[in-house]
Amino acid sequence: MLKTLPLAERVRQLHPSPTMAIDSKAKALIAQGKDVVNFGAGEPDFNTPENIRQAAITAINEGHTRYTVVGGIEALKVAIQDRIRQDTGVEYQTDEILVSVGAKHSLYNAVMSLVNPQDGVLLPVPYWVTYPEQITLAGGIVQYVVPHLEHEGVPYPDDIENFMTESSRGLLLNSPSNPSGVVISPHVLEQIARLAVAKDLWVISDEIYNRLVYDDTIHQSIAAFPGMRERTVLINGVSKSYAMTGWRIGYAAGPKHIIKAMTSLQSQSTSNPSTISQYAALAALKGPQEQVDVMRSEFDRRRRYIVERLNQIDGLSVATPRGAFYVWVNMAAWKNRTVGGRVIQNADDLALAWLEKANVAVVPGSGFGMPDYFRMSYATSMERIETGLDRMQSLLDSRQ
Ligand SMILES: Cc1ncc(COP(=O)(O)O)c(C=O)c1O
Repeated sequence: MLKTLPLAERVRQLHPSPTMAIDSKAKALIAQGKDVVNFGAGEPDFNTPENIRQAAITAINEGHTRYTVVGGIEALKVAIQDRIRQDTGVEYQTDEILVSVGAKHSLYNAVMSLVNPQDGVLLPVPYWVTYPEQITLAGGIVQYVVPHLEHEGVPYPDDIENFMTESSRGLLLNSPSNPSGVVISPHVLEQIARLAVAKDLWVISDEIYNRLVYDDTIHQSIAAFPGMRERTVLINGVSKSYAMTGWRIGYAAGPKHIIKAMTSLQSQSTSNPSTISQYAALAALKGPQEQVDVMRSEFDRRRRYIVERLNQIDGLSVATPRGAFYVWVNMAAWKNRTVGGRVIQNADDLALAWLEKANVAVVPGSGFGMPDYFRMSYATSMERIETGLDRMQSLLDSRQ
């Protein structure tokens, strides 16, 4: 009989995405016919705008169905160059840009090209679940940066310095943040930039939510500060801003030699991202931008409602997120209390109680490095948000 084949060490260390775990549990319940309100989604609930869909159809009909150059078609790189200039003021040449199969792939290419075994990579907590896995896969050591309580989730330079060691080589920043919705102010970013220059750190800056910021919040890129362009790889993509998660187009911009290495890596793994999707992304970046604002306004409306409601629920507290489409909720007051017949130790328990007894899915914070918090996405309709919150509240009120 054939023995079970052993797996390579590197994949044995990988953890499946915890955000996917709750999502698949929720989907299994939905498949059984249960009416689950799913706050787990990490994607806009809107359809991709019409002009973008149409551009993809035209691309197919015009025969753009073959391989392209590995790093993406020149016209798309020019559109990305323009977009980055408009958003950040930073000027990149097209050979300093690489188009990949979603921003996650851009991040993977960047991490694999920058991290050597045993290199320390500073990662502010809470973090998006994928970062530690990619760093570990590259052989790097994740150095978690826990911001001081008073800093309200913002990683200040003294926080970063607190967790820095001799082996620290780089810093992974994500602003606006998934899961917390925190946006690092230009003033703090400038100080972080000074630290990066002083300590000779590279920075991977994941700015995928940069266009989804609210109120008077200003998003700035760390690449825009003195000395940073040459030590930053900026990551972005079309998934979140244009409701294009399924199209799989992300991009990276950075120093030429790093982009060249990332392109080589991509040439030996995936080759070019889907040709049709590249044409769709081109239409997204070059076409009318009103849809981005329409979606942002709707997210904003939901954000205000969900924050207000959550803060009215006994034992839950939430700071108003400044960006992205998530709320990051503190549930510590519920520890050691009983909900749905279960004694609650952390947000995992509470999430399970809500899923099993109230048909509501939220994502526990353990996968993001903060087990007393959970994440709710407001990329779902106002009506569903209302229903979900009512159910969550009534399970807590019933206290069985
Ligand atoms: C912070 C962050 N970066 C990157 C991504 C990945 O985006 P893409 O779908 O373009 O791979 C996500 C998606 O959830 C995200 O939240």
